[in-house]
Amino acid sequence: MSPQNTNSSNPAAVIVLAAGAGTRMKSRLPKILHPIGGISMVGHALAAAHGLNPERLAVVVRFERDQVAAHIAQLDPKALIVDQDEIPGTGRAVQAALEALDAENEIEGTVVVTYGDVPLLTTELLEELTATHQKDNNAVTVLTAVLDDATGYGRILRDATDGTVLGIREHKDASDAERGIKEINSGIYAFDAAVLREALKSVTTDNNQGEMYLTDVLGLARNDGGRVAAVATADRWQVEGANDRVQLATLGAEHNRRIVESWMRRGVTVIDPATTWIDSTVELDEDVTILPGTQLHGKTTVARDAVVGPDSTLTDVQIAERAEVTRTHGSGAVIGEGAHVGPFTYLRPGTVLGADGKIGAFYETKNVTIGRGSKLSHLGYAGDAEIGEDTNIGCGNITANYDGVNKHRTVIGSGVRTGSNTVFVAPVTVGDGAFTGAGAIVRKDVPAGALTLSVAPQRNDEGWTETHRPGSISAAAAGKSN
Ligand code: UD1
Ligand code: MG
Repeated sequence: MSPQNTNSSNPAAVIVLAAGAGTRMKSRLPKILHPIGGISMVGHALAAAHGLNPERLAVVVRFERDQVAAHIAQLDPKALIVDQDEIPGTGRAVQAALEALDAENEIEGTVVVTYGDVPLLTTELLEELTATHQKDNNAVTVLTAVLDDATGYGRILRDATDGTVLGIREHKDASDAERGIKEINSGIYAFDAAVLREALKSVTTDNNQGEMYLTDVLGLARNDGGRVAAVATADRWQVEGANDRVQLATLGAEHNRRIVESWMRRGVTVIDPATTWIDSTVELDEDVTILPGTQLHGKTTVARDAVVGPDSTLTDVQIAERAEVTRTHGSGAVIGEGAHVGPFTYLRPGTVLGADGKIGAFYETKNVTIGRGSKLSHLGYAGDAEIGEDTNIGCGNITANYDGVNKHRTVIGSGVRTGSNTVFVAPVTVGDGAFTGAGAIVRKDVPAGALTLSVAPQRNDEGWTETHRPGSISAAAAGKSN
């Protein structure tokens, strides 16, 4: 969903660093595979990178290598997956990527480096970084932010007189005075490929962490006569990484706040943004209304004048114009124009509700196509079924689709009226305009226009209560009315 880059000088390559262990997540799932807004963190990183239209894209992996590589290949089959060796550090990671890219075709021009765990970074900010880098003919341009608490980050060292960037000092290697600096290194940069290649040759592991620091490249480039500069962003969220689950939730909430706000600006009414969660992949039209406590996931789409919520969770659900979906849990369903769903409805995959139709309270549906104007208003289950138009399914109807081994279909025509508690024992077909009586168990096909009854004669035993429940409240009540 990133906008297309209109910049004429797209970077030669983007390198996404994703080899870190992410131990603070305390998770079997690799850190960068944890989702925010329905997309993995590395998915966000790739989307922001793709928006720059780089000629090539490489992702550096190591921790949980196979799982991460498979995920990236799925998102971007053209991405070059690069394995980092046992030499640690961001410098080594970038060096490995550059060597792998060069081996295919030597990189010339701008190389952008980003992280796989910085999910709110946008293409727009990367474009600003790249544009400044190219316009000013820089050797290196680093994206920075000013933070109240800069603990843990690399600090930007600037010349005391002219303010130009001298280099970066890692927190663990910094003096007390340097630790007082509030401008931090985001870890996102634009490099000139030749400068980067050359400088990395001189980067060592001689520091307090025994790592090859990518940050050393800035000082080296400057000493070599290159222009080193910074682009400072006022939006600290865009440079923030998620290292543990607390930060994951904080970034997830901010991501959601931005998505919800952008939909409101595009004409969607959101009554309570704080309890409305919308994945990046969802599409909404103008004049949609979303009521509190609603989560829209996956490829859910909602058309004009539809109302969704409150308290609904919908994944991959398509909602047409003017439909209302109230207190519903649904996935893989299609809701027609002006149709009503809920409250307390469970839509399972393959549910297709026609225009002006209804699936009401305490209904579960699965693999069912319901024609225009047909209603399943109260308490039931409809699965593996096809229902025609303008049919009314009575309260408590059930399609008995499962014989314990196989599933079977129920076909119900148009203009049908079924009595309460009808059970359709599939496979079975009910013709157009047929009626069923209350409690009917439909085991055989019903011809069009027929009335089906499952007749068990009713017997009344007079005086039964006083004989069989003497002295009870019921017997007393019966005695009074007799
Ligand atoms: C790094 C920067 C620091 C900056 C901070 C911003 C260096 C030396 N330091 O800190 O100046 O303020 O990012 O968050 O670059 N990674 C690899 N291979 C490695 C090590 C890391 O691919 O060997 C990846 C990680 O997966 C992560 C990113 O690089 O995506 C940053 O690693 P991390 O350890 O979080 O950053 P720091 O070294 O703490
Ligand atoms: Mg580190």
